[in-house]
Amino acid sequence: MKRRGFLGTVGGGTVAVTSRVSGQSGDAVVGLVNSPLVVMAPREDGAEIVWAVTSLCKAWIEVKDEKGAIEKVAMDSHGMVPQGDEVVRVRLEGLKPGARYEVRGHTESSGGKGTALTEWRSFRTLDPAASESSFVVWNDTHQNEETIKRLHAATPEGDFLLWNGDLCNDWHQEGWLVPTLLNPAGQNVSKNRPLMVVWGNHDVRGKWAYRMPEMIATPNGRPFYAFRSGPVAVVCLHTGEDKPDDHPSFGGRVAFEKLRAEQAKWLKEVTAQPEFRDAPYRVVFCHIPLRWKKERVLAQGDYERGAYDSYSKMSRDEWHDALVEWKAQVVISGHMHQTAHLPGTKDFPYAQLVGGGPRPKQATWIEGKADEKALTLTMKNLEGREVERVVFAPLGS
Ligand SMILES: [Fe+2]
Repeated sequence: MKRRGFLGTVGGGTVAVTSRVSGQSGDAVVGLVNSPLVVMAPREDGAEIVWAVTSLCKAWIEVKDEKGAIEKVAMDSHGMVPQGDEVVRVRLEGLKPGARYEVRGHTESSGGKGTALTEWRSFRTLDPAASESSFVVWNDTHQNEETIKRLHAATPEGDFLLWNGDLCNDWHQEGWLVPTLLNPAGQNVSKNRPLMVVWGNHDVRGKWAYRMPEMIATPNGRPFYAFRSGPVAVVCLHTGEDKPDDHPSFGGRVAFEKLRAEQAKWLKEVTAQPEFRDAPYRVVFCHIPLRWKKERVLAQGDYERGAYDSYSKMSRDEWHDALVEWKAQVVISGHMHQTAHLPGTKDFPYAQLVGGGPRPKQATWIEGKADEKALTLTMKNLEGREVERVVFAPLGS
């Protein structure tokens, strides 16, 4: 039996594949590709295109610019044509900021099972110099198909979609990775809003969690990264687990105390760079909130009895000073499956905004819109009702 079985199905019509195999049926070719082209980790000079395949394949991307010129991108960072037996990835470099491109994916079986060609897909690179930005935030979908479908239908296009952790319910089965991450509920989630992923505590649970980075691209290949989208400087952080690393339920698989400390050092460095230091708006995404309504400090015995962090004190202790120094305006999180807005205070000058949970009745999404006058974050539920609206004035540099 193949090592990595695929348990999901490709949702209705989301994978556009053209038969290019002589003497074989279209179905045989459709079988090579197992997800839409997912446009991930947009940057000002590129993005990464990721898609799922069912057997060992070579893959490449054609990129068409606004004038119609087409370039073939068929090399990975080690000089190989991109290849994989479950997922293939093509990183695009050297594109122009704020420009629209079309891409289509070529997939060629390495075992003589034919080729597949996707339709053209459009996306736009990030533009740090733009006067405006708009983005969408999801969190804690936990493989809830109805919620994902309704979020996908409700949320608008944007410069990026930030999926703020807990995409899954623990990786107990290897076959859940592809359908959950690359073809969630059969929806083409990165269509017209390239995808940024922030890791949640459930995304690092289970014996197959170590494989998630094979499917998820980030701008720098790490689970913490920063980028500018118009006037908004964004820092994405990985809060890790909601219990200490040595908790028996983690089976010795996690090392977040080190990762939080590494991020603390990086945070100081990245926020000192002019494009982040001087940005009009300063936003942080991390899955576990850094503040909570009633903060209780847990002890070892509490964790042993099943308690978990409602806010990541372990992360805050590492990052707080750098966030205050940077003048971070808001930390946007999930984790608690209930919405919250804690305005900034004297001790905690950054506001804390928390989105809802996985069930359709709990689920929310946030739309961010920034221009010269304000950054407005509007949280809505799936009925379309506004749950929170938070407005920030631009900071002086
Ligand atoms: Fe969650």
